[in-house]
Amino acid sequence: MEKKQQWGSRLGFILAAVGSAIGLGNIWRFPYMVYENGGGAFLIPYFVALLTAGIPIMIMEFSLGHKSRAGAPRTFSLLNKKWEWLGWWQTGISAVIAVYYVAIIGWSFSYMFFSLNGAWGDEPASFFLNDFLRLTSGPFKMGTVQFGILFTIVIAWTLNFLASYGGVQKGLERANKLLMPVLIVVLLIVVVRALSLPGAVHGLEILFKPDFSQIMNPSVWVAAYGQIFFSLSIAFAIMITYSSYLPKKSDIINNAFMTAFLNCGFSILAGIAIFSIIGYLQHQAGGSLPDNMAGVFLAFVTLPSAVTQLPALNGLIGVLLFMTLSFAGLSSFISINEVVVRSIVDKFGANRRKVSVWYNLIAGTISIVFATGAGLHILDIVDHYINSYGIVFSGLIQVVLVGWFYDLKSVRDHANLTSDFKVGAWWDLMIRFVTPAVLGVNSILNLITDLRVNYGGYSTLVQIVLGWGLIAVLIIAAVAAARFKWQGGDTASLTQSNEA
Ligand code: ALA
Repeated sequence: MEKKQQWGSRLGFILAAVGSAIGLGNIWRFPYMVYENGGGAFLIPYFVALLTAGIPIMIMEFSLGHKSRAGAPRTFSLLNKKWEWLGWWQTGISAVIAVYYVAIIGWSFSYMFFSLNGAWGDEPASFFLNDFLRLTSGPFKMGTVQFGILFTIVIAWTLNFLASYGGVQKGLERANKLLMPVLIVVLLIVVVRALSLPGAVHGLEILFKPDFSQIMNPSVWVAAYGQIFFSLSIAFAIMITYSSYLPKKSDIINNAFMTAFLNCGFSILAGIAIFSIIGYLQHQAGGSLPDNMAGVFLAFVTLPSAVTQLPALNGLIGVLLFMTLSFAGLSSFISINEVVVRSIVDKFGANRRKVSVWYNLIAGTISIVFATGAGLHILDIVDHYINSYGIVFSGLIQVVLVGWFYDLKSVRDHANLTSDFKVGAWWDLMIRFVTPAVLGVNSILNLITDLRVNYGGYSTLVQIVLGWGLIAVLIIAAVAAARFKWQGGDTASLTQSNEA
């Protein structure tokens, strides 16, 4: 059974938590979420979601992980034996995210090299879809495996494996101490360069100028909550897992605020960089916006096209841009995988290194799907359902269960006990009333829309198999996993607040 895996220092934990939070979600997802959901108007639900759900849930997860010293399944089963399935559901969500997330890290590695000679030429969209991905006509048409993409996916899994195999201090902490400082410096260089481009200010107008007609749209609210959850790495077991490695004396509340603000600050900075670049493209095109602003196209079509059109140092800026994606992605990817390794180690009392070897091999093999010509289609659908229904509903269930069916005050007391800055009754209010109300209403309205209009224009069969089917399989697998007997010994118990 795993023993004494613990962060070496407070900085080590913060870097790892921030490393997990800052990821593709901040650089790849945040800008297009803003663009697709009313520009600056999206920032209103985004900050509401941060304050009412993001930070309160982060405090809850840090407190629970610190208290249980266990991964999510055991943590929830210690709160109530019937809740173990929620921990497995969250673990399953992480496993699914891992297998597609790695593909985007792989693409970023490739684009870092493509930047050196502008390999995408004059037609970055055609290059991305036809030459690079060899995209087929739909998710059930697999096409062929792209060995270039497979190669980069294998590299990302290998790097993850090295971090995972090394354990908490020698693997996870070291990786983040290396990746995070480089990431911040590189992003700052990119921001300064982007802001100095002609037209940058027009791009910033899109980011900050609100389209208020969108504000009453439930899907915008669900997108904002989903983005906060995904970006803060909450509601899919990561922060519970990471905080389970905290030493007894750890300032939970301060750590939570710091992680959340650093993450959102990073998103805004990344947004400023990307939208300044878009403003530049608009300026070059005599006022019209680039065509490819949605989803992955923003990062892999619009950015390359901007890199080509830069007045100077094109290759270097391109390398730095895709380096931010690669590094931010890697540190998050490591945390997503840690969830699965930890849950299995807890349950089966297995040797961490063995679990790490097997998990990386199996998940790595599954992710080959994303190196095929159908990869992008599958990624698009799975990412949508996993966020809107997996993460958002798991967050909703978590706040309702812990808020209403557990002694919420004991969780708050535990957080307050080791923290300089204490949270008061407002925290209970957010967890028990505000988050369930806002999230509940909007996610149901959003569900109704999704049932009426097929996501992404894909067929109903695709929605059933890759969307609803996937969510159903994850729930069934979670319930089944919870029925297995604990083999890792049932020795862990919730640390009493007064011993923490
Ligand atoms: N929090 C990670 C991200 O934003 C998963 O990409």
